[in-house]
Amino acid sequence: MGVTEPAPAKVNLFLAVGPRRSDGYHELVTLFEPVPLFDVVRVELEPSAEGRGDAPCWEYRVRAAPPPTSPGLEIPPDLDNLAGRAAERFVAALRESGAALRASGPAGGRGSVIRVNIAKRIPVAAGLGGGSSDAAAVLRALQRLFGHPLAPERLQALAASLGADVPFFLRAERAVGRGRGEKLQPVPVRRRLPLVLALPSFQLSTPDVYRRLDERRSREHRLDDHRLDDGTAPEEGLAALLEHLAAHRLREAAAAMRNDLQEAALDLRPELGQVLGALRRAGSVGALVSGSGPTCFGLAPSLEAARQAARRAPDYLPADLKAGLTFLPVLSGRVGLLSSSRKPPG
Ligand code: C5P
Repeated sequence: MGVTEPAPAKVNLFLAVGPRRSDGYHELVTLFEPVPLFDVVRVELEPSAEGRGDAPCWEYRVRAAPPPTSPGLEIPPDLDNLAGRAAERFVAALRESGAALRASGPAGGRGSVIRVNIAKRIPVAAGLGGGSSDAAAVLRALQRLFGHPLAPERLQALAASLGADVPFFLRAERAVGRGRGEKLQPVPVRRRLPLVLALPSFQLSTPDVYRRLDERRSREHRLDDHRLDDGTAPEEGLAALLEHLAAHRLREAAAAMRNDLQEAALDLRPELGQVLGALRRAGSVGALVSGSGPTCFGLAPSLEAARQAARRAPDYLPADLKAGLTFLPVLSGRVGLLSSSRKPPG
């Protein structure tokens, strides 16, 4: 018994970073944009001998002992991945809700094995949210497998406990994120956006990039700064971008895109400046680092222009840099998860 959930990537079309909070996180105003580049997450209940996954797949297993009185699921200690933690916390939430595990557990209260198998396509530590998306896909899959036992608010809180981006990926609809990024407000998508992604073969650590931003601000005595680098308040900048997107004014939208982490990412990986330049010269109307990087993306005036930019961008880069990059044209904004993320009627 199992289900397969697609786990899409995201870029941030807007990312204004406020001061560091006492919990170590930063206050954000961001616009999450889902992009159709997918990991494939398979979650199975009960062990099976076959289908253990081939080389690019990782496998995590959640073992269940069948104690005679209180059925439960036991988590092995090597489950240190975010997707594994998602399974672990889901099970803990089921236990908390008592009868739910016994009543809705497919093993009829005898305990189950949860096997999570992830085919990775989204580059790791790339600013695309792959790990967070995998974790959200595990939560969606377990909700389906156990008959939607957790209320949407409980699932949302569980997702937020796993990471700042995980709540967004439960639905993966274009949304404004505030707080740590977990307070979401969906944004309707009339037309999808033609983007060209520059996928890197190297990684950047998100905490390192935030730390570099704090260092820059502390050097410039801007630690309490809520405003963007050009002096506009984040909410004004975001409102302008949303208006341009609603009217599909792509040049204006490109000019309104922001990423406060970009300079910090460029400090750590200066060659990203060349990647942004290549995306622009190849025909994008604007280019940005996604999240904490190192993925960059360009906004193109049309899908055809995005395809052309993906073909041409390598021509503007030195051989060693272009060898480590993959350029991918996509239409972003809708990735079609909704049928599987909602409880079926009846
Ligand atoms: O929540 P998640 O584990 O994805 O965040 C990774 C890291 O990114 C955090 O440990 C923190 O350093 C940084 N972060 C932040 N403020 C946010 C989101 C992430 O400082 N709002």
